[in-house]
Amino acid sequence: MGTAHPTNAKVQLPKLRGDAPHNPLANPKGKMTMLENFWYAVELSHEVGKTPQSLRLLGKDYVLYRDSDGQVVALDNQCAHRGASLALGWVEGNCLRCPYHGWTYEADGQCSHIPADAPGTPIPKRARLRSYPVQEKYGLVWMFVGSPDLPADRRPPIPAFPQFESPVRPATYSRHEFDAHFTRTMENAIDTSHALFMHKGAIGASNAPQNTEIEDYEVTVSAYELAASLPIKVNRLNGVMRFVLQQDDPEAHKRYRFALPNVTYSAVQFGRYTIESIMVHIPVDDATTVVKSVNIRNFLNQVPGLGQWLDGNTAQVGNQIMQEDDVVVKTQEPQIAPYQDMRQELLVASDATLIAYRKLLKQYAGSAELPEEAITAEPVVG
Ligand code: FES
Ligand SMILES: [Fe+2]
Repeated sequence: MGTAHPTNAKVQLPKLRGDAPHNPLANPKGKMTMLENFWYAVELSHEVGKTPQSLRLLGKDYVLYRDSDGQVVALDNQCAHRGASLALGWVEGNCLRCPYHGWTYEADGQCSHIPADAPGTPIPKRARLRSYPVQEKYGLVWMFVGSPDLPADRRPPIPAFPQFESPVRPATYSRHEFDAHFTRTMENAIDTSHALFMHKGAIGASNAPQNTEIEDYEVTVSAYELAASLPIKVNRLNGVMRFVLQQDDPEAHKRYRFALPNVTYSAVQFGRYTIESIMVHIPVDDATTVVKSVNIRNFLNQVPGLGQWLDGNTAQVGNQIMQEDDVVVKTQEPQIAPYQDMRQELLVASDATLIAYRKLLKQYAGSAELPEEAITAEPVVG
């Protein structure tokens, strides 16, 4: 684990095997496609059921469903026969049946039945789909979108969020679709200096542009993550926290985390009260990112009516914040955060989280080669 100074971040990252002179994760138009060999958080667990559903990740389609054992299955979405969308099909036991001519696929992607063939006809070798490893954790579905040749024990880990394993009360969820590339939505989530300008109504008044200085802060960086903690400067709170605290200007902190490839985390802490969110940035295509969040809090958990009111209020504020963010984030040029050459923008001391983020991105987007050995990421405690 290393520490990055705001303007001179020294980020120690694992060496990758071989040189990659070009960015293999850029498509011919130079657009970023995908960081490979990572677990992507792709869906909220409770939203995946027995009805197949499509999932689009940077222009490629997958299908998700829950089999009769309750396991989530992820397959390529186009049927091997004639390319129909399997998300229009249906689940039979542990299998998925194509809606067009009824070919049936096992959870491992192998076709096991071609209804139009005479019984006993061998199934063609190519009648199979790629199946992707899936795990469920923290109320999220994680899918390994990487090399099938990479042994399971060499896959980078799913980031650790132990406080979400068994929260004191059920989590709440939110969803917002951004008209922006996922590098921009993630940067927005770990940007430390925009809230006092963009979200005055949602979180409370500040004296912006006075009292907006972000003092130097440390960014902690591990193999796949970064984290930072900053005081919150709000002079007059709105919403839930005003109700709970019954006062203004308390000792308040916000913690930020980013975990490769598509997760951010925030914790807003007012004294002993904490609201925590895992946000997953689902990269639908170059211009669309769906951000879904899992939210927990450690207070007012025992009063059902009040708890629901707080949930509703928090969701409303969260939506307002997302909408305010979306209006600006989609205007940013270049569309993809310039992680290869940061001089395209003018990052200053308060942007230390973004500098560290881009260094991580550059490290892993710069080579499709696999790490030489398994990397045990030291989780950054959120
Ligand atoms: S396209 Fe799927 S069975 Fe024909
Ligand atoms: Fe924001």
